[in-house]
Amino acid sequence: MKFFVDTANLEQIKEAQDLGVLDGVTTNPSLMAKEGIKGEKNILQHYVDICNIVDGDVSAEVISTDYEGMIAEGQKLAALHPQIVVKVPAIKEGIKAIKFLTSKGIRTNCTLVFSVGQALLAAKAGATYVSPFIGRLDDTSTDGIQLIAEIVDMFNYYEYGTQVLAASIRHTMHIVQCVQAGADVATCPLKAILGLLNHPLTDSGLKKFLEDYHSVNG
Ligand code: E4P
Repeated sequence: MKFFVDTANLEQIKEAQDLGVLDGVTTNPSLMAKEGIKGEKNILQHYVDICNIVDGDVSAEVISTDYEGMIAEGQKLAALHPQIVVKVPAIKEGIKAIKFLTSKGIRTNCTLVFSVGQALLAAKAGATYVSPFIGRLDDTSTDGIQLIAEIVDMFNYYEYGTQVLAASIRHTMHIVQCVQAGADVATCPLKAILGLLNHPLTDSGLKKFLEDYHSVNG
């Protein structure tokens, strides 16, 4: 499973990249706003800055909701850097935009996916990724991980090339459950990725190894 880090914070992106296991980055307008990135010029430059830190795909989201606006924005974003993947919402105009952008060789990430039906339409339009939002579904008493498993099964059965990018991950256990459900990618807060390393037996075992080493070596 590939790991993307779900942030627009350059320090966190650098830290994740330094770990050596990072495959990409996802952003959204909320994450950009959280970092105080505003104005088209600054936003576009920020995407380029992210691409210059990481080796993998960087999702950059359109803010238009009409077809013409989405395809114009999508082409502009894609022209910024070869690593850019254009993030488009799972609405009617978005599906049409994904179809168009795919026909132009531009990679897309269909975002705000909350159902198998939305994922199906995105895959049929040629999306590179679909992003089902686990945490936001869990927040409504609906099993987000179950949706990941259902979409994975559907794509496998019909042999769609679209990758399942599990999004809205809130904690480390979500990552483990994404592995079990067969997600292609998990986009996670850095803290959730680092949480995979947490184990008291690792900490106590390492402490003992070092104590034993120093007991004879000084
Ligand atoms: C990433 O592609 C999504 O935009 C992001 O994971 C949403 O996460 P949230 O539900 O925690 O805002």
